[in-house]
Amino acid sequence: MPPYMFQQLERRIAEKRAAGIDVISLGIGDPDEPTYPYIVEAMQAAVAEPAYHQYPSNRGREEFRRALAEFYEQRFGVEIDPEDEAIPAIGAKECIYNLCFAFLDPGGVALAADPGYPPYTGGPVLANARAELLPLVPELGFVPDLGAVPADVAAEARLMFLNYPNNPTGAVVPEGFFELAVSFAREHEILVVHDMAYSETTYDGYVAPSFLATPGAKEVGVEVFSLSKGYNMTGWRCAAILGNAEAIQTYWRLKTNIDSGLFEAIQMAGVAALQGPTGPLERMNETYVRRRDLVVGALREIGVDVPAPKGTIYVWAPVPEGHSSTSFAELVLEEAAVVVSPGSMYGPSGEGFFRIALTAPDERIEEAVERMREHLKP
Ligand SMILES: Cc1ncc(COP(=O)(O)O)c(C=O)c1O
Repeated sequence: MPPYMFQQLERRIAEKRAAGIDVISLGIGDPDEPTYPYIVEAMQAAVAEPAYHQYPSNRGREEFRRALAEFYEQRFGVEIDPEDEAIPAIGAKECIYNLCFAFLDPGGVALAADPGYPPYTGGPVLANARAELLPLVPELGFVPDLGAVPADVAAEARLMFLNYPNNPTGAVVPEGFFELAVSFAREHEILVVHDMAYSETTYDGYVAPSFLATPGAKEVGVEVFSLSKGYNMTGWRCAAILGNAEAIQTYWRLKTNIDSGLFEAIQMAGVAALQGPTGPLERMNETYVRRRDLVVGALREIGVDVPAPKGTIYVWAPVPEGHSSTSFAELVLEEAAVVVSPGSMYGPSGEGFFRIALTAPDERIEEAVERMREHLKP
């Protein structure tokens, strides 16, 4: 395994900063604003409660499972049985990795979006299996062409990772794609894992659907719902897996051998988050829209034409002519002291693109954009 990609990037940034250079990092997508106060207050109360200090159960507290089910009903119109269709995860990343161990035999196959969130390919490798890539290209709206998956690969595959709104491309799911995914999964007996990390981070009136709202989805799939991005809770490690009861049971059985569950005080803070007001999320999304428009406008000025994404906290843009993903990211770092992620970090189909995360304060984004305009104007 290579080191996790941001580990190398963080070292480069630290070196530059140690040399006195004011580096602006728009690399990693880690919300810069604090967790909403009503969630922090719930945590303060919960952490003082001795009942939550003991080992949690991997099955999760009933309050958390119920809150997830209610949220899914209200937000997505999806019925979830809190008894066996929802359990906590210690962040989506844990869940994705452990699903690989739960479902892939050595030599097995997972289908993974390319470009995609790195655990979709790293997980199978660690489980001694392999990832077969599903290229996401702009011409197809960054959804995989399931009809193009070779028959032998589809026959071997046990898992398929999908993610909309999509990291890194910012794409949202086109009408009808989830239906295609359900019938593909049914035909080839594949478990769909839909990663919903960005469902609450959407713009311009777009509301992201749940994969589980697709007819038949619960028979073939699970959804990984994370509170990290939408609720500014990346440090808390609060997520859940919902959907197919049998798949969840299998994941749970594996997990009981690996970890000891999600701290119950965090589960109670998760309840507060899911039941809380939506105003703070709406204001956060207004902030991201402002930043997105700043970035998109500046990129257009330097000759990079890029659509404004309707979801996620990223702008995914083609590199200017004559550059590779890494040569452009290097140029931006050297000339403007701004960190962007080279698209090739997310898989071979990410070559020719770079990603900007909108998770720096407005004034830092303005400064970054100003530097890019100044140093990179054609
Ligand atoms: C698509 C996707 N899924 C999951 C995660 C991580 O979620 P969590 O913080 O719940 O592990 C990220 C973080 O960048 C992501 O981009």
